[in-house]
Amino acid sequence: MVIFNKINPVSEWVANQKKEGKSIGFVPTMGALHQGHLALVEQAGRENDLVVCSIFVNPIQFNNKEDLKKYPRTIESDLQKLDGAGCDVVFNPGTEEMYPAGHQSKTYDFGRLDKVMEGRFRPGHFNGVATVVKKLFDIVQPHRAYFGQKDFQQLQIVRSLVRKEKLDIQVIGCPTIREAGGLALSSRNTRLTESQRREASRIYQALEKAREMYPEFPVDQIKQQIIEVIDASTELELEYAEIVHPDTLLPVTRAGRNTSAVACVAAHAGKVRLIDNMYLNS
Ligand code: PAJ
Repeated sequence: MVIFNKINPVSEWVANQKKEGKSIGFVPTMGALHQGHLALVEQAGRENDLVVCSIFVNPIQFNNKEDLKKYPRTIESDLQKLDGAGCDVVFNPGTEEMYPAGHQSKTYDFGRLDKVMEGRFRPGHFNGVATVVKKLFDIVQPHRAYFGQKDFQQLQIVRSLVRKEKLDIQVIGCPTIREAGGLALSSRNTRLTESQRREASRIYQALEKAREMYPEFPVDQIKQQIIEVIDASTELELEYAEIVHPDTLLPVTRAGRNTSAVACVAAHAGKVRLIDNMYLNS
């Protein structure tokens, strides 16, 4: 596995491989890697000749300074895990390399996509994500890029970015990897106490129940069920629960067998913010 910290060498490496006809799969991450990330690397490995993974904790997508400061950084074990998962190249730049002129988010117009849910509660977050993803795409220029459905709204924003900027990159959404109890793997889970971690699986239980209820029950009732299950926990504080159409993120008002719907939840366990989602009619 080759490791690059600078932009030019990684760009050249990829360009040379592409000249030789190799297909490139790309997995952007912020490190503190777990099986959720590694599943993306493995899928990229199955579908491409070579896999590039980036590790960069992107300061401009954190709307909360404390969250940025506390974000886990585990580069040595990350590199070991990536090697084991079959990654070929790691791009691990410093902040100076990515933002030589200071941290500046571009402002994108994603219409409704960045106004609701995460966009509403984390102002500026998706401009920060889109800015760094565009930079990383320009540096790596992969054929395919892999993103987790765990960050469902982010996945839709990236798809929109690729369309808007007319990038020749196939964006591939990959299933959410969960702990045995259902809690979606997340780098932030390491900051949960044992009891918070146990209780956090209620988010999954609420979403699973929602999936069972759809489309037989009215949307309001399904939403209410999610709220009640999460509110019943003393460890969790619900931020939002929404049932939306996957492409438009408009609220689904009438459940229907042919109406696509995703339930999206954000909740706090102490100071840790957790998000999760589930397709309801699959
Ligand atoms: P990060 O949170 O490190 O996640 C990197 C990728 O792993 C994202 O596509 C995310 O959706 C995916 N992922 C995280 N947990 C997952 C799980 N349990 N199952 C499946 N996939 C999972 O998302 C980011 O970093 C950043 O916003 C980034 C896109 C790198 C831009 O800075």
